[in-house]
Amino acid sequence: MRMKIVITRQLPQEAMALLRAHADTVEWPHAEQPASRSFLEEHIGDADGVVCLLTERIDAALLARAPRLKAVGTMSVGYNHIDVKAATERGVLVTNTPDVLTETTADLAFALLMATARRLVEASDYLRRGQWTTWSPLQLTGMDVFGATLGIIGMGRIGEAVARRAQGFGMNVLYHNRSRKPEAEERLGLTYAELPRLLSESDFVVVLTPYTPQTAGLIRKEQLQLMKPTAVLINIARGGIVDEADLYDALRSGSLWAAGLDVFETEPVPASHPLLTLPNVVTLPHIGSASVRTRTQMALLAAEGVLQALAGQRPRHVVNPEAYAR
Ligand code: GLV
Ligand code: GLV
Repeated sequence: MRMKIVITRQLPQEAMALLRAHADTVEWPHAEQPASRSFLEEHIGDADGVVCLLTERIDAALLARAPRLKAVGTMSVGYNHIDVKAATERGVLVTNTPDVLTETTADLAFALLMATARRLVEASDYLRRGQWTTWSPLQLTGMDVFGATLGIIGMGRIGEAVARRAQGFGMNVLYHNRSRKPEAEERLGLTYAELPRLLSESDFVVVLTPYTPQTAGLIRKEQLQLMKPTAVLINIARGGIVDEADLYDALRSGSLWAAGLDVFETEPVPASHPLLTLPNVVTLPHIGSASVRTRTQMALLAAEGVLQALAGQRPRHVVNPEAYAR
């Protein structure tokens, strides 16, 4: 009997073709709209696998409706939208898509860092609004990236890829991570720092840690106050890691110079959100991994992960190998 796989979005063609060739698929018909909860509840009941995105909450209540389920593959590196503990208890493998997005996401981290430092969006808007009437000495002046101190919070694969880019900009790189990475320190010339030191010495702070109960609200008022008034904060990880109300206050009062944000506590973030009203915030709609090639590879990897799990093979990226014990 063919396996049944629920696909919560129309994915890039290659991934859809792969899934359809190997399983009976139940597909949410839209590419630009998330699957409804009722669609998931209706179809997960007899599903063997699910391929989902970070827009779906795969929680314990949903998993409880899925007695046949063996695998959930998310087309993302982050998996905080999935109750992994509940999945493990039910013997459901969870797979994700690291590696293929590392360089693309590091590119975006740097793009956002530079856009924020040099006020690119503000400058472009200024020109388009017809405000550019003359060249002047301090017009739209920003912060230097070359030679500055970069603090990376979360030294995983993406953190290392950002650090490599920083070498080309002659930056002094500090990092903070749950565990020290002596080999990476040596290879990339990194300096380990406790969080308060990293925050107080860095000109740019890039948040790259996964969202977990330990990192939720990691950067709040108290931490923001340690940063230089000329510093820039970049978050391309997950929204809730930086407290948005406290960030707004810091940017508004001038105790922090600017922020670049690719992620928000609630996504999609409404255009009326206070942070989006500030000129010193550069905002993006969660596009860290958004290159054509990488998004296609992520979709394929998510599809392959579920198909391999259902075929009894070991997928490349299993989040919860403990589930095998069940
Ligand atoms: C994007 O944020 C991802 O987790 O892949
Ligand atoms: C994600 O791949 C990370 O380890 O940073």
